Amino acid sequence: MHQFKYHQGTLHCEGVNLQTLAQDHGTPLYVYSSQTLRDNYERLNKALGDLDHHIAFAVKANSNLSVLNLLAELGSGFDIVSGGELFRVIKAGGDPGRCSFAGVGKTAEEITYALEQGIYCFNIESLAELEFINRVAESLSRTAPVAVRINPNVDAQTHKYISTGKAENKFGIDYEETMRVYERASKLPHISIRGIQMHIGSQLTNVSPFVEAVKRVIPLVQELQHKYGIEFFSIGGGIGIVYEEALASGPSSWWSEHENPPLSPDVYARELVPLLELLKMKIVLEPGRYMSGNAGVLLASCLYEKKGSAKTFKIVDAGMNDLIRPALYEGHHEIVPIFERQSENTVLGDVVGPICESGDFFCQDRRIADFQQGDLIALMSAGAYSFTMASNYNSRPLPAEILVDGTECSIARKRQQWSDLISGEL
Ligand code: LLP
Repeated sequence: MHQFKYHQGTLHCEGVNLQTLAQDHGTPLYVYSSQTLRDNYERLNKALGDLDHHIAFAVKANSNLSVLNLLAELGSGFDIVSGGELFRVIKAGGDPGRCSFAGVGKTAEEITYALEQGIYCFNIESLAELEFINRVAESLSRTAPVAVRINPNVDAQTHKYISTGKAENKFGIDYEETMRVYERASKLPHISIRGIQMHIGSQLTNVSPFVEAVKRVIPLVQELQHKYGIEFFSIGGGIGIVYEEALASGPSSWWSEHENPPLSPDVYARELVPLLELLKMKIVLEPGRYMSGNAGVLLASCLYEKKGSAKTFKIVDAGMNDLIRPALYEGHHEIVPIFERQSENTVLGDVVGPICESGDFFCQDRRIADFQQGDLIALMSAGAYSFTMASNYNSRPLPAEILVDGTECSIARKRQQWSDLISGEL
C-alpha cells in the first residue's frame, strides 16, 4: 500500500502531480511520500500490539534528514552502521539514546563519537571488536552498552548478496561461540551487557525463516536473561516488500521466481509475537526496506529511443549511479509512465541509462509502456537502498529529493551541481 496513484490520468504522489514536480525540479528526481512512511510505521506498530517493542529504522535504507526527522517524530529509534549515520540522526532530531550501532568494522573514531553521544547499544560482531570497544571506553572513562549479534545459521531464502544469517556470511558470531563472548564481556570493566541481536537477511517475503531463527535463539535469550539480566532481544530487519506487480510481464528474473505475496506486518506479528511475548523483555525491530521502500519513486525522462537489430532501448536520464539495485542484485523496479494512457501501447525492450556500462539498465526484455523522447517515467519502490546507494560515477551530480505531504512538497535535498562534483578536490 502506497500513495503513488493515477489521478485524472497523471501519476500523483498523495495530492501532488508528478509531472508538475518533474517540470519544477528536473529529472532524475527522487520523490517520497510522507503518508506512506507514516502508514508503514503505524501498521507495524499496530500489528505488534501489546508486545513490549521498539522500532529502530535502518538508516542505511534512506538517510535523508527529512525522512529521519519524520520517523523520529513518530517515535522511531534508529539502527545505524556508521558514525556518519549517527551524525545524520542527531542532525535530524533523533535521539542517540534510541540508536543501536551495528556493523563488522567500527573504527575508534566512530566508537568514541557513539559513546560521547550516549547511544543505546553497540551490536558486537567479533571478539576482537568487543575487546577494542572496551579499550576505547576505558580511554574515555566510560562504559559501553553492548549486545552480541548472533549468527543463527538460518537460510533467509533471499538473494545471496543480502543474506546475512548463514555461518558463511561475515556477520555476527557463531551460535556455539556466543556464550563465550558474553562470558568475556561480563569480565570487561568498561562493557555492560544490554541485549542480544540478530539479522538474518533482507527482502524476506516468507515468515518461516524469521520463525526458525527466533525459535533457535530463544533458549539462548532465556539463558542470557537469567545469567546477565539482558533487557532486549533485537530480531533485526528484513521484512520484504513487493517490487513486482502481479501483472508485470517479461522473462522471469531471480526475483520473480522467488517473490511471494507480500509479507504483511499482520502475518509477521501473528507468527512471531506469540513466541516473543513469552520472553517478557523488550523486542527491537530494525526495518529499513519495509518502512521506506514503497514510499519513494525515481522520476526520469526519456532522452532517446534506439531500435537496435536485436532490441529496442529506451534511454533515460537516470542511470545506475542513481539507482544501482537492478545492476547489483538483479533488483526489479516497476517502470510506469507518468501519463496513464501511455500504458496502453507497450513494447518489449530495455530501459537503460547514460552510463558507460552494459550493467546500466533498469529492466531488460520487459514489456513496458512505449514511451518516447521527452516522456516522463517513474521507477517504483525506490524509497529504500536507492538514493543512499547513489554515487557520482561518470561525474554525474546526485539527483534532488522531494518530500511530499498531502498537497505540499519540500526540497529534502538540493540537486548537486557540477561545481559540487569537484568541491573538496585540490
Ligand atoms: N539490521 C541490520 C543489521 C541490517 O544489516 C539491515 C540491512 C537491516 C537491519 C535492515 O534490513 P531491511 O529491513 O531493510 O531488509 N542494499 C540491499 C539491502 C541491503 C541490506 C543490508 N542490511 C538492497 O538494495 O536490496
